[in-house]
Amino acid sequence: MILVTGGAGYIGSHACVALLSTGEDVVVFDNFCNSSPIALERVQKICGRPLTVVEGDVRDQAALEKVLTQYGCTSVMHFAGLKSVQDSVAQPLEYYDQNVIGSHRLLRAMQATGVRKIVFSSSATVYGTPQFLPYTEEHPLSAVNPYGRTKLMIEEMLRDQYASDTSWAVAILRYFNPVGAHESGLIGEDPKGVPNNLVPFVAQVAIGRRERLNIWGNDYETPDGTGVRDYIHVMDLAAGHVSALKVLDQPQCFSVNLGTGAGSSVLEVVRAFETASGRAIPFDIKPRRAGDIDAYYAATDYASKLLGWSATRSLQTMCADHWRWQSSNPNGYA
Ligand code: NAD
Ligand code: UD1
Repeated sequence: MILVTGGAGYIGSHACVALLSTGEDVVVFDNFCNSSPIALERVQKICGRPLTVVEGDVRDQAALEKVLTQYGCTSVMHFAGLKSVQDSVAQPLEYYDQNVIGSHRLLRAMQATGVRKIVFSSSATVYGTPQFLPYTEEHPLSAVNPYGRTKLMIEEMLRDQYASDTSWAVAILRYFNPVGAHESGLIGEDPKGVPNNLVPFVAQVAIGRRERLNIWGNDYETPDGTGVRDYIHVMDLAAGHVSALKVLDQPQCFSVNLGTGAGSSVLEVVRAFETASGRAIPFDIKPRRAGDIDAYYAATDYASKLLGWSATRSLQTMCADHWRWQSSNPNGYA
């Protein structure tokens, strides 16, 4: 049995599909602060298999110990946390509380119950300003905002814990930019309020919930001047988690990139989404967004060597699947 914290969220729900599809049993632990229980009903519909849902907060160590014991969990996938860079700047204490303290309580609960295997959702944001590209796993680490610092702190906590007890098995997965949705269109990303991220915003323009896209800058050092990122299909990302869990059959601690290795510009994403949706995406060029960098993308050699995994889905597939979800659920799970 695998404990999936934050399993009702965007990435967690797709990981649940991947886990159930490979025959694993899953118990989701989520407080639904940024997700809907409907996502988990849909996961079960896609897989034709049940999962267990426990409502709770990862800062509640006693509740976690109870779940880990009651369901005989042998490993944990830890997605629960807050993820907005903007909010983390405005409310840093909330971010340290939910992300860092939450992860600490989870590790304590695992220690108390003898569960030693964990896959953690980190982010390419821990590399900070690129000193070279692609980012390899050896790139120096330096977070540039409170959200990034919480990820870096949790990474350090995991490395310290492994150093103190090498019977642990720890996979730190550094996600690049997850987009897309399960091909059924039944689950997908459902941001609350105005989306910060590019693809959810573009999708809401395409469906008519927002009038125009703001492109934050076209004077970057990139081929067309707009920012370049390594977008990865969320189902490829989910498959990476299943591969990581397999490798954790042996005690070890590793950090690995989950990206495609290829960058796409904002304009390339807009064009791909227009093709996928058959809708025009009107946009305005606006000044740069604070904290944005020109370009970044992943080195993928280590992931393919260590996990035997690599991303396979194209930008066009990411946009087509994202659009299927958005167009069949114009208001998300609401
Ligand atoms: P999400 O907000 O959709 O999912 C997070 C889930 O955790 C939600 O279901 C939320 O209700 C739950 N949660 C939050 N705080 C909780 C708490 N204290 N107790 C219990 N449950 C709690 O986000 P996501 O995009 O699925 O991201 C999942 C993880 O991956 C996060 O840790 C995020 O930081 C990380 N990550 C995401 C991205 C991205 O672009 N989406 C990139 C890099 C890393
Ligand atoms: C952002 C976060 C990062 C987080 C990642 C995934 C910041 C500074 N960084 O990364 O920490 O890990 O999301 O959740 O917030 N863009 C527009 N218009 C928009 C939205 C985005 O032009 O309305 C551009 C951005 O300037 C950027 C690209 O699209 O060039 C991608 O932006 P976004 O989806 O927000 O991801 P990141 O900035 O890479």
